[in-house]
Amino acid sequence: DWTSEQFIEATVADLQQQIGNDKVVLGLSGGVDSSVAAMLIHQAIGKNLYCIFVDNGLLRKDEFETVLDSYKHMGLNVKGVDSKSRFYEALAGISDPELKRKAIGRVFIEVFDDEAHQIEDVKWLAQGTIYPDVIESMSVKGPSATIKSHHNVGGLPDYMKLKVVEPLKTLFKDEVRLVGKTLKIDDTILGRHPFPGPGLAIRILSDVTPQKVAILQQVDHIFISNLKKTGLYDEVWQAGAILTPVQSVGVMGDERTYENVVALRAVTSIDGMTADWSRLPYEFLADVSNEIINKVKGVNRVVYDISSKPPATIEWE
Ligand code: XMP
Repeated sequence: DWTSEQFIEATVADLQQQIGNDKVVLGLSGGVDSSVAAMLIHQAIGKNLYCIFVDNGLLRKDEFETVLDSYKHMGLNVKGVDSKSRFYEALAGISDPELKRKAIGRVFIEVFDDEAHQIEDVKWLAQGTIYPDVIESMSVKGPSATIKSHHNVGGLPDYMKLKVVEPLKTLFKDEVRLVGKTLKIDDTILGRHPFPGPGLAIRILSDVTPQKVAILQQVDHIFISNLKKTGLYDEVWQAGAILTPVQSVGVMGDERTYENVVALRAVTSIDGMTADWSRLPYEFLADVSNEIINKVKGVNRVVYDISSKPPATIEWE
């Protein structure tokens, strides 16, 4: 029978044999897969693993700082790269969801490439690819192939000529979590909801600006922290907020307001392929809605998405 202990022992030995004294570069995303892959390789080769964590300006509120900190605590050799302005520039004026994904993917590769070049004599590129990703990329067509294309660092320029190492390639998500637990990775990283590579950019309908990101970060933070506070976070598979370009009339004191509508989305799912909207308690939704409207300037109405997938998707873009 498969156990995480045996898997780790065998994989660490394999990695040491395969990599020897070479240097390896890995892009951390804050998610479960890249974090577990990093810790596993770190166990095998220590400081010869060079991790890069890019701030694309599209992460959740305070996420970059918090996650970078926990990576450092885990002993990883990690460099945080603030590339917010490069991403915002590339996204300026773009409203089409696929064009957003392409722009983000392109800038990510540029940034990663720049950083990898600064590591002298790096030979390997490590990725947190898991078994379902392998299966997905075998079906060449279909939306899922496009979906994951952007953060597939396998699209790095040829001249980098890095050999690829993917230690989680045979594992399912629950096995990855078990390995992470055995490696003593923090629960805040292991229990994390999935978060799309293009981040908040695809939850801002219409063009992305730093101002809109700041509004959405506040809304999202109120929603997510209330989910955590009430213990509902672990009951939903994924949750987040969407900033719509719709404006609606409201009243604030004696004033008439004309501000944006945000939508909250929370779903239950096994694998993201199908999903149902979470039956969050009315009282919870009422509290979150009040807090958002009272605290976040620029938002005067909150709606809850009650669509299941299919035919709706989890993300709005
Ligand atoms: P949909 O919206 O297709 O999402 O129901 C299914 C899952 O995939 C995530 N998602 C993405 N992840 N890059 C990613 O890395 C993307 O472009 C992307 N689009 C959707 C989504 O958050 C959900 O978990």
